[in-house]
Amino acid sequence: KVLILDFGSQYTQLIARRVRELNIYCEIHPYNKIPQTVSEYNAVVLSGSPFSVRGADAPHPDLSHIRGKKPILAVCYGAQYLAHFSGGEVAPSNTREYGRAHLSFIKKDEPFFNKINEGSQVWMSHSDTIKHLPTNGVLIGSTNDVTNAAYRIEGEETYAIQFHPEVYHTTHGKQLLENFLVHIAGVNQDWTPQSFVEETVEALREKVGDGKVVLGLSGGVDSTVAAVLLNKAIGKNLYCIFVNNGLLRKNEFENVLNQYEGMGLNVKGVDASSRFLDALAGIEDPEKKRKAIGNAFIEVFDDEAHKLTDVKWLAQGTIYPDVIESVSATGGPSATIKSHHNVGGLPDFMKLKVVEPLRALFKDEVRRVGATLGIDPELLGRHPFPGPGLGIRILGDITAEKVRILQEVDAIFINGLKAWGLYDKVWQAGAMLLPVNSVGVMGDERTYEKCVALRAVESTDGMTADWVNLPYEFLQKTSNDIINKVKGVNRVVYDISSKPPATIEWE
Ligand code: XMP
Repeated sequence: KVLILDFGSQYTQLIARRVRELNIYCEIHPYNKIPQTVSEYNAVVLSGSPFSVRGADAPHPDLSHIRGKKPILAVCYGAQYLAHFSGGEVAPSNTREYGRAHLSFIKKDEPFFNKINEGSQVWMSHSDTIKHLPTNGVLIGSTNDVTNAAYRIEGEETYAIQFHPEVYHTTHGKQLLENFLVHIAGVNQDWTPQSFVEETVEALREKVGDGKVVLGLSGGVDSTVAAVLLNKAIGKNLYCIFVNNGLLRKNEFENVLNQYEGMGLNVKGVDASSRFLDALAGIEDPEKKRKAIGNAFIEVFDDEAHKLTDVKWLAQGTIYPDVIESVSATGGPSATIKSHHNVGGLPDFMKLKVVEPLRALFKDEVRRVGATLGIDPELLGRHPFPGPGLGIRILGDITAEKVRILQEVDAIFINGLKAWGLYDKVWQAGAMLLPVNSVGVMGDERTYEKCVALRAVESTDGMTADWVNLPYEFLQKTSNDIINKVKGVNRVVYDISSKPPATIEWE
């Protein structure tokens, strides 16, 4: 396995993804928390960073127990770091070193550049430059503007590059990672969805034994894949609970429950719609609504869990981006942890031990594991849907009638996207019911009805997003369908805001 030391670059997660694409298991750890078990890793990658090595606050971890003992690939800041602190020199660069560049020189017979030729495009993003190589440094690659673009250390399996192999625009970046990890470091390419399933099933059996496990299914990809994995490992000792909070998409509860039963899951569907609607009555403030929904969920889930006896474990569909401790770009060495915000936290009084079989996976890997487990591709390809559901897409207070209207609108929009072959091109889509009425005319009648906003975004992780340029013809047809078919709506608008500064959900 591979250790990626994070110096806070926005690209660190991309390095991990590229490494995983090579079927190699890797972990990201902050530079100031190097794991004790470093000997268990086969290679180490040093990431880029928003810091300058010359700055007083520059990350400066002690790598003496790694240098020369493990193969090292130092990227960008990593390359400058090795130069600056080991006898080389780093200085501010006087030419622009951002964006596209081409390798103008590659040292002959250098295994690091196996199958990569001069002229290959690489992507730069740095403001410092390496003026002099560190002690024992051997130049192995240059671009037109950056002489010391790649070097290795004589007598060590240490390689350093100023450009970013992990970004898409470095044409042979993946080849370069393969050259380093597979051919130089000799790391095994045995991390496949199949091997993950086998190892995880084995590990779950060992961990959980014959203890009972309870798991909340949401209809989403993560909890479903977690459930199917656990089902494979412990079968009937897994008790799944699927709560209808009354804020799901149209017919979602029945359809998904059927699907779950069809997969052989031991699942109990709990229709708590009226409990949620009661808890939400009259509340308009978005945060108060979120809290009301979160609390109601905990109460319902807890009631159900208490009906089971002797449960020892709580399983969750937490995935890797939720648990990575990232080095925050502004906070220096302080680390921030992103927390899972799916179920609004767990009640302390449940006192269950937690098991999270997908903790090491990225979203696309969860999908691949799901496919290996035979889960319906349509379910695996679903757009993300927020835990509080339509509750945060109905602006203002929530009533059963508003939920009905929004469910109808949402179904027309989503089914339309599917029918037009647009669904899989969009990362997430949905409709918002606005708290305004506007005047319209239908036939010869004046109407004074609700307005809905459609939203469709492209994104990779929901952290940033842009609106999707849906075809006008599609929007035209959808708008017509909605206004003609959904009683109570006489106006449709399309949301053309990016995130930031807007968010994906309106509340
Ligand atoms: P925002 O609105 O913050 O949403 O741009 C980013 C992504 O997160 C989803 N989202 C949630 N998911 N529980 C969830 O499970 C929540 O409380 C929640 N709030 C937002 C949102 O749908 C989008 O994919």
